[in-house]
Amino acid sequence: MTMRIPVLLLVGCLCSVEWVQAQEKKSSKDLPPIPEIKLDRKEPVVYQKDIEPIFAEKCMYCHSGNVIEGKYDMSTYAGVMKGGKRGAVIIAGKSSESILYHFSSRQKKPIMPPKSEDPLTPEELALLKLWIDQGAKPPTGVREKAKIVLNFPPALVKPVRAVAVSPDKSIVATGRGNQIHLFDAKTGNFLKSLVDPNLKHPDGKPAAAAHMSLVESLEYAPDGKTLISGSFQEAILWDPATGAIRKRIDGFADRVVAIAFSDDSQRFVTGGGAPTEDGEIKIFKIDGTPEFEVKSGHSDTVFGVRFSPDGKMLATCGADKFVKVWSVPDAKLIKSFEGHTHHVMDVGWKADGKFLASAGADNAIKVWDFEKGEQARTINGHSKQVTRLMFVGKTPMFITASGDQQLKMWNVDNGGNVRNFGGSKDYLYAVSVSTDGSLVVSGGEEGITRLYNGTSGAIIKEMVPPADGKPEVKPDAKPEAKPMPKK
Ligand code: HEC
Repeated sequence: MTMRIPVLLLVGCLCSVEWVQAQEKKSSKDLPPIPEIKLDRKEPVVYQKDIEPIFAEKCMYCHSGNVIEGKYDMSTYAGVMKGGKRGAVIIAGKSSESILYHFSSRQKKPIMPPKSEDPLTPEELALLKLWIDQGAKPPTGVREKAKIVLNFPPALVKPVRAVAVSPDKSIVATGRGNQIHLFDAKTGNFLKSLVDPNLKHPDGKPAAAAHMSLVESLEYAPDGKTLISGSFQEAILWDPATGAIRKRIDGFADRVVAIAFSDDSQRFVTGGGAPTEDGEIKIFKIDGTPEFEVKSGHSDTVFGVRFSPDGKMLATCGADKFVKVWSVPDAKLIKSFEGHTHHVMDVGWKADGKFLASAGADNAIKVWDFEKGEQARTINGHSKQVTRLMFVGKTPMFITASGDQQLKMWNVDNGGNVRNFGGSKDYLYAVSVSTDGSLVVSGGEEGITRLYNGTSGAIIKEMVPPADGKPEVKPDAKPEAKPMPKK
């Protein structure tokens, strides 16, 4: 026994020398395997603490979100275990039979990450091996308090996936990468960022971010007293007046991609769920306490949720191509609408509750007659997927955003194209409009939030936060970061 420790140490030292040499040979064509070292570790490897951060930093930018190389989605534990086009890539308990280990250790091709890009260190590889050999255990329930924001590659940090106009039309909130920025809705000037003070960079510096991952959804309650943002496995209730976090809700299966409030601001609903698993629809009281769930409502991710104007029903839609309507609060299926040939990305109600409109990844907008339970019309005005849809207050108008870079206003009663909002140069993900239709906001892949005059269609401002790329807001606010106007 006494001999073992020095021997292990010696092996460890030799390996790090070898590894340095391996790094120097980076440019050469056939990259050598990453040396195997032994870890002197007694406590079990914990997925979310030890393994997920490695995947997040070195794998997920090619294996999650919009980019799923090899059909291998690593954004969740379930996805990691499920595998990709080759089937399962991890055999629990057997790293030697797990192709994920073969690829990431560079023992077999294709090496992961490919080429000379940021490989796993011998320590990371040893942790990964140990985790697999210990049975590739799932994440345990507990979350660490201080969270580390990993350095996402810039390309993934920028997209604006969610925008919201405050009900009093004073503020535009925009989710850009993992940050939330507030702009003055009259001038388009930057006001401040909403920040989770617990989020830190690996070096311990404040991350000035709202979430660890991308902000996927953002909505103001109609009474203006709550702003909710949704991200990977969490939603945050913000106090819009102070910018403080009122509550964090954990426990979502995957990304929270849709949020909607009831008109009386008494409850809200979230939509999401992991790809190819049951969609997730959760309803909460306005303070964030869980109220009920629509279980197994959709057989795949839910992309859109919206309460009916009277609050007695809930419309949902998702990757299973269905639009469905549920009773509130007993979650009984009332109607189901089938007709889209691809994912249904969003859904909305006309103010009289008689018609629904839905946005499809099949490039089509469909209008549904609620009482008859059938399709009233299809609007073919986009050439790429229709990503979001929002009705303009109590009017028969609604606006759609699309991957074809177009933002368009339609009349639900006759399918007519009322107005277009131009200027976008890339894929659009997000749209929001004030209830009177005077302000329209869009966001997309460019990372620019465009503020429009809703009546003329003219651009008021292209909004980007100052000091683009750097954490622009320090905890002790800079002079130009004005306080929020009091309500
Ligand atoms: C720069 C992009 C990129 C990065 C970073 C990356 N991969 Fe990949 N990955 C790919 C591509 C491309 C493929 C498809 C290659 C093929 O099938 O030949 C792939 C395929 C895979 C597969 C095979 C999936 C299947 O079922 O066929 C595994 C396993 C994998 N990657 C694991 C990882 C791990 C683990 C990491 C991080 C340590 C990682 N990858 C980082 C691009 C990347």
